[in-house]
Amino acid sequence: MKTLEDTFAAHRSIRQFRPDPVAQDLIETVCQQAIAGGSSSGNLNTCSIVLTRDPERKRRLYELHFEQDMVLQAPLVMTFCADMFRTRSWLAARGARDNFANFIGWHVALVDAVIVAQNVCLGLEARGLGICYMGTTLHSMAQIAEFLELPPACLPVTSLVVGYPAETPPQRDRLPLQAFLHDERYQRPTAAQLDAIYADREHKGWERYMSMPRLKALAEEHGITSLAQFYTSKVKYDPDQFALDAAALRATLEKAGFLP
Ligand SMILES: Cc1cc2nc3c(=O)[nH]c(=O)nc-3n(C[C@H](O)[C@H](O)[C@H](O)COP(=O)(O)O)c2cc1C
Repeated sequence: MKTLEDTFAAHRSIRQFRPDPVAQDLIETVCQQAIAGGSSSGNLNTCSIVLTRDPERKRRLYELHFEQDMVLQAPLVMTFCADMFRTRSWLAARGARDNFANFIGWHVALVDAVIVAQNVCLGLEARGLGICYMGTTLHSMAQIAEFLELPPACLPVTSLVVGYPAETPPQRDRLPLQAFLHDERYQRPTAAQLDAIYADREHKGWERYMSMPRLKALAEEHGITSLAQFYTSKVKYDPDQFALDAAALRATLEKAGFLP
C-alpha cells in the first residue's frame, strides 16, 4: 500500500478502467477505515453509501450522469448520500425530539458524506485503484435519489466511479499555493496578482483544450477565445443550464425536508 505522501503524488482522476471487479472485502475494508478515520459532525455519522455494480443498473446511472462513459466502464459506482433519515428514525424510535430535517441538517450531512467520500478515495488510491468524482450527481440529484430508492431526508451529494486504471494520465496542475492560503485575513488579489495566479493555468489549460479536436471545434463554433470563457459557455458549465439545475436542486432539498 502506498504512503499518504505517495498517494497524493499519484492522484489523477481515472476515466478508463479495466473490467476487473473490485472485491467486496476490499470495498468493506476501505469504507470501514475511511469512516473510522475521518471526523463526523457530533459523531452522528450521517452518511450512507450505495454501491452499484449490476451492469443494467449502471446503465441507468450512466444516463443520469450525462452519459459519461466511465460510468459504464468502471465496475463500481459509489453514491455518497447525506443521510439524515437514519438519524431521525433513531431519534423518533427513542422518543427524542425531531431535528435535522432543516438547512443546518443538510450541511451537517453533506459535509459528513464528503469527508467519507474523500477518505474512501485515499483508501482506494493507496491500494492502486482509480477513481473519478461525478459532479453530475448534483444535476440529477432527484432522479438518482429515486433510482436508488433513497428515503426522505437522504440525498446523493457525490459519486465515485471506481476500478483498476486502464490509463495513466498526466498530473493536472493546481493554482499556486498562495492563491489558497491567507494570513490572518482574506487578502483579495490585485489585478496583477490575479494574472500571476492564473497565468500558468490559462496557458496550459487553453493549450490542452486546443489539442482536443472536438473541443477546438466547439470553441470555434461558440466564439470562445479564452479558458475563462470556456468555463461559462454552452460547452462547459452553461450558466443557463446551471440556473435550471440549481432551481431543481433547491426543489429537491425542499421535497426531502431540508428546506422549509
Ligand atoms: C466534486 C467533483 C466532481 C467532479 N465531476 C466530474 C465529472 O462529472 N466528470 C469528470 O470527468 N470529472 C469530474 N471531476 C474530476 C475533475 O475534473 C478533476 O478532479 C480535475 O480536473 C483535476 O484533475 P485530477 O483529479 O486528475 O487532478 C470531478 C471532481 C470533483 C472534485
